[in-house]
Amino acid sequence: MNILGVNCYGHDSAATLLVDGMPVCAVEEERFVRKKHVGTFPENAIRCCLEMGNLKGSDLDAVGFYWDPTVHRGKQLLHLLRFLPDSLNLLDARIETARELRRIKGKIASFLGVSASKIQFVEHHLAHAASAFFVSPFEDAAIFTYDGVGEWTTTLYAEGKGNRIRKIDEVFFPHSLGDLYSMVGEYLGFKHSGGEGKVMGLAAYGDPEPYYQKLRGLVQVLGEGQYRLDTSYLHYHTHGKKSWFSPKLVELLGPPRKHESEMTKRCEDIAAALQKVVEDVVLELMQWFHAKTRTTRLTISGGVGLNSVVNGRIIQESPFSEVFVQPAANDASGSFGAAYYLWNQVFGKPRGYEMTNAYLGPEIPDARLRATIEAEGLEYETLDRECMLERAATMLAAGKIIGWFHGRMEYGPRALGNRSILTAPFPASMKDTLNARVKHREPFRPFAPSLPIERLQEYFEHDYPSPYMLLVYKTRPEKRAVIPAVNHADDTGRVQSLRREDNPLYYDLICRFGEKTGVHVLLNTSFNVRGEPIMHLPEQALECFLGEDMDGLFLGRYFVDKKRVPASKLRGGGAKDLD
Ligand SMILES: [Fe+2]
Repeated sequence: MNILGVNCYGHDSAATLLVDGMPVCAVEEERFVRKKHVGTFPENAIRCCLEMGNLKGSDLDAVGFYWDPTVHRGKQLLHLLRFLPDSLNLLDARIETARELRRIKGKIASFLGVSASKIQFVEHHLAHAASAFFVSPFEDAAIFTYDGVGEWTTTLYAEGKGNRIRKIDEVFFPHSLGDLYSMVGEYLGFKHSGGEGKVMGLAAYGDPEPYYQKLRGLVQVLGEGQYRLDTSYLHYHTHGKKSWFSPKLVELLGPPRKHESEMTKRCEDIAAALQKVVEDVVLELMQWFHAKTRTTRLTISGGVGLNSVVNGRIIQESPFSEVFVQPAANDASGSFGAAYYLWNQVFGKPRGYEMTNAYLGPEIPDARLRATIEAEGLEYETLDRECMLERAATMLAAGKIIGWFHGRMEYGPRALGNRSILTAPFPASMKDTLNARVKHREPFRPFAPSLPIERLQEYFEHDYPSPYMLLVYKTRPEKRAVIPAVNHADDTGRVQSLRREDNPLYYDLICRFGEKTGVHVLLNTSFNVRGEPIMHLPEQALECFLGEDMDGLFLGRYFVDKKRVPASKLRGGGAKDLD
């Protein structure tokens, strides 16, 4: 049975193909159209999925779409009436999306050449729920999903057993921890859908105390999993994403920061307070949820599921001791979850796939990698596995910065060792060096450590696996000076713990680096600069390598040494934009 999952018209458009319950491909549209978080119809992602499955549209048995425009209409209408006339702004904002969604079945049907009857809507948060639970290692688990908003749901509590998901309760718009986070992020001068991660990084520099009570006052936890935001501080619930917060928030916190203006201590403190408020509220909700479900297993998805600091506190402080977070927890998981919802819940098929890594994107053939380098007229070496590991590890041990492009592209926003820029996690100045020479990011954003899972407890204060950089742990005090470039301002790391079977080449590279340096950790940042999505094609990787101050590029088994690139081939340095 061939099932395609699709999500679009929000952000992070993506497609997923399942053949007999196994994921053949899952990929975001942004990788093809080169615009981060793009929400357009994922025609490239769909084509890629079909190509990888060697299928035509007519071979599909079913298509799942991650949104059900028919649900919660009554609640939406009541909300609009309650907040008239301001809510007319919201109506405007949603009307175009509503039009596109009404036409979506026809659009998918004509694009694929299938009957519209094969296309099924899956409720947004059920798609998020399915994206985590059905591929988790758990036979049964509590399921928590939260984001900005789906059709009208912002938070879902459910439970999963075998191939069934059952809703327990929901929280509805405008009461949304995701939108609260985006709103204060906007106040701090960050764009929503992408800026939230920056706010999380900034929070580590601040002291939550001066603003904690003020922001905590915006959220009332009612019990039974319900919470309410004080709508007098919001604008997004009546004006949509054109205007996020009311003048009352400015009265509470002071003037908002303008985008790209100087970052102040006050902004850091507000970010820290926001982060802590969300953490504390989620931990309170988890207490209730655990009492309700009486399980210690939890799966998480939805955009706020990318908040690795919250996730780290859940695994360490809540009663849930086993946690699976979907690596593409943002709306990209909508396509993945919609496909699995059809396979397991609608068609009743048994579960047969456990997600242990995120290498579900396309792979570029070897010949294409070589042809890309030759087309540029560059010298290169062809390395066998052993020579490649030795060359790369030697460079890394010498403090060089390398591009590492291998195998299948990662699904989800984190590069996990197949489309990565790598360097040593020391000295402390490596972070600034990497930013100045290659990444050009805001200085407050952390870089992540990758390490073999067997070494996790040696460097960090928790040993629960964190394969997707979605759990944040304290760095052990004695290791903070050993890996200072991946030790964030609050002495934590956004850890990627790696099992050898999930990525033997990358695992072996870290170990080889460890043999040379005594440090079994690499700094791993995604292969992208200047606000681009992660590199999909070798041409993009090569362009980046020639435009930025990187020392070497490993495109599969082909190695290009910057020292042997003639100056005429260099792109003159990258623009110093922030991504
Ligand atoms: Fe979502």
